[in-house]
Amino acid sequence: MSMPYNFDELVDRKNTNCVKYDASERFFGKADVLPLWVADMDFKTPDFVVDTLKERLEHDVLGYTFRPDSCTSAIVNWLKNRHRWSIKGEWLHYSPGVVPALAFAVQVYTQPGDEVIVQTPVYFPFFSAIKNNNREMVENPLVLKGDRYYFDIDDLKKKISPKTKLLLLCNPQNPGGMSWTESELKELGDICLENNVVVVSDEIHSDLTFPGKRHIPLATVSDEIAQNTITLMAPSKTFNLAGLSTSFLVIPNKGLFDKYDELMKATHVYQGNLFGNIAMEAAYSKGESWLNELMLYIEANYDFMASFFKDNLPGIKPMKPDATYLVWLDFSSYGLKDKELNEKIVNAGVGLNRGVQFGKQGKGFMRINIACPRKTLEQALLQLKSAFAT
Ligand SMILES: Cc1ncc(COP(=O)(O)O)c(C=O)c1O
Repeated sequence: MSMPYNFDELVDRKNTNCVKYDASERFFGKADVLPLWVADMDFKTPDFVVDTLKERLEHDVLGYTFRPDSCTSAIVNWLKNRHRWSIKGEWLHYSPGVVPALAFAVQVYTQPGDEVIVQTPVYFPFFSAIKNNNREMVENPLVLKGDRYYFDIDDLKKKISPKTKLLLLCNPQNPGGMSWTESELKELGDICLENNVVVVSDEIHSDLTFPGKRHIPLATVSDEIAQNTITLMAPSKTFNLAGLSTSFLVIPNKGLFDKYDELMKATHVYQGNLFGNIAMEAAYSKGESWLNELMLYIEANYDFMASFFKDNLPGIKPMKPDATYLVWLDFSSYGLKDKELNEKIVNAGVGLNRGVQFGKQGKGFMRINIACPRKTLEQALLQLKSAFAT
């Protein structure tokens, strides 16, 4: 099959102030690491996005702009076609990022001292969104059974108290890559409804499903659950444009929408920037076939890595994701302490995310980002082999 997009192309990202390549010293204590950590991709942002931005730069005035209706339509159509989710344009609100939106939601829907539930191991900015806003974080850990994590519903019921106001869901889960099933989502959503716990569902990775897999937005599970859900999404992971600080929220419940809107009016951060709006519209209107090819490439990267480990490093066990380009690697068979494990990997010249960042359940795990040309992945795997093969 011929691929019009060349994901094998090596793009030199150094000296672009990019976090992944130019901040290694700060994160790993040395500059010379192959970075397979922070969640952006080493592939080119697709040409249909970049060309639209270039076209706009043909005009020499970069003054105030607004988000046009065509941008709203592009989001509405994308959600309908990709996720079978019919939304109304007036349910949409904006944020400069999903992490800022997590913090805004905590500020808007809870009071200092209220409890917010997280399901660990989970993307660590969930923790700071709660703690830095002086709310109480309550853990409802996921349960690891075989090759997948599951919700612990009995524990969730026990953890909900009269002070619990919010649950931060990660769907698909980072790390772990599970796309939660409809029945899992229904059970979780119903318990939150019964207890007046609003759910903030971070679905930033929703577009990045592996071939044959499907993402189910929590808000599509029932009308009642939709009324109790704030969904956070963005084109940033999907189309590699995180530097444009552009994301959106879907809030079907008018009361919850108005509360968010109040904060946005008070802070005036929702307007977005010219380039973010243009890129988002181009991505959602033209991105489908590029994205499908991207996920074929990422799945092939996963298969390559899984067979490399099987043949060369059977002590490292990858968890096959349903979605995301992030893979949770179980190193526990080596019996190393977190610090030793990380040092061994950094000394091998590879930069991964430490499992314990995601919660104590991440002990013995590391997270790898496989959204890179296969050559880069292969190089990192060979370096790991030199450190771990006995
Ligand atoms: C689950 C999750 N939410 C949010 C983000 C980042 O969102 P943003 O860059 O829009 O703040 C990431 C990035 O890795 C993520 O994995």
